Amino acid sequence: VEPAEGARTFQVAGEAYDSFMGRYSGPLAHRFADAAGVAAGLDALDVGCGPGALTSVLVERLGAAHVRAVDPSPPFVEACRARHPGVDVRLGRAEEIPLADATVDLALAQLVLPFVSDPAAAAAEMRRVLRPGGVAGASAWDLDGGMRMLRLFWDAARAVDPASPGEGDRGRFGRPGELRALFVEAGLEDVQEHVLTTETTYRDLDELWSGLLAGIGSAGSHLVGLPPEHQLAIRAEMDLLLGRPQGPFTLTAAARCALGRTPR
Ligand SMILES: C[S@@+](CC[C@H](N)C(=O)[O-])C[C@H]1O[C@@H](n2cnc3c(N)ncnc32)[C@H](O)[C@@H]1O
Repeated sequence: VEPAEGARTFQVAGEAYDSFMGRYSGPLAHRFADAAGVAAGLDALDVGCGPGALTSVLVERLGAAHVRAVDPSPPFVEACRARHPGVDVRLGRAEEIPLADATVDLALAQLVLPFVSDPAAAAAEMRRVLRPGGVAGASAWDLDGGMRMLRLFWDAARAVDPASPGEGDRGRFGRPGELRALFVEAGLEDVQEHVLTTETTYRDLDELWSGLLAGIGSAGSHLVGLPPEHQLAIRAEMDLLLGRPQGPFTLTAAARCALGRTPR
């Protein structure tokens, strides 16, 4: 993904994000928090919080006073603040986290690093704000077809226009070992990678399509940049690939997740 574009496509209302991606990232956040060991008594930072899918889970488990959140998108910061009173939500980038050194026990970036301009700087910053022995975590959608909705979109886009980028050309950190290598490079210890899975059910193709038309992320921004007839051809191809569903259908989504500790 072109990183600057990645950040730019998130200047949308929280509700538009929810219907496109929050429907996946909400349930994914529970799995991510389980894997990272989020438990009462710890202080956590949600890096690239968006409207707050992971922030909600952190508040449930830790209490609002123990949760901080950062995102560079003003509408997302506003939505996250409104949804989570008492949480310290700041406008900021992962590459320059507006927090003092050694402030939190957990620094978690859910589905964020693919969009960050300088992921190595982001990993170093996550390490800096963690206390000794603290846990850094990052996740990204699988880019080998495990995120069915994105795969479906890029397969349809390529079927309509063979010159279109494919799923794998448009992202980072979605292949085995990529997130792990970033964390190891940042000096984190005991780094492990897992696969986390979730799913969502759509009423019909219109519901999925209207989420894409919000122009969010790589798929959405690619779609809204195309002429209307080209967009409709992609929609028809997606319908075909889905087997022309006549009612609700469920799509699974797999994310890669790396976890590492700061030295004690
Ligand atoms: C796919 S969304 C994930 C949002 C949220 N973590 C979730 O799980 O729903 C990607 C988020 O990364 C944020 N982002 C983009 N560039 C960033 C950067 N340089 N530093 C921190 N966050 C960034 C976007 O504003 C957006 O909220």
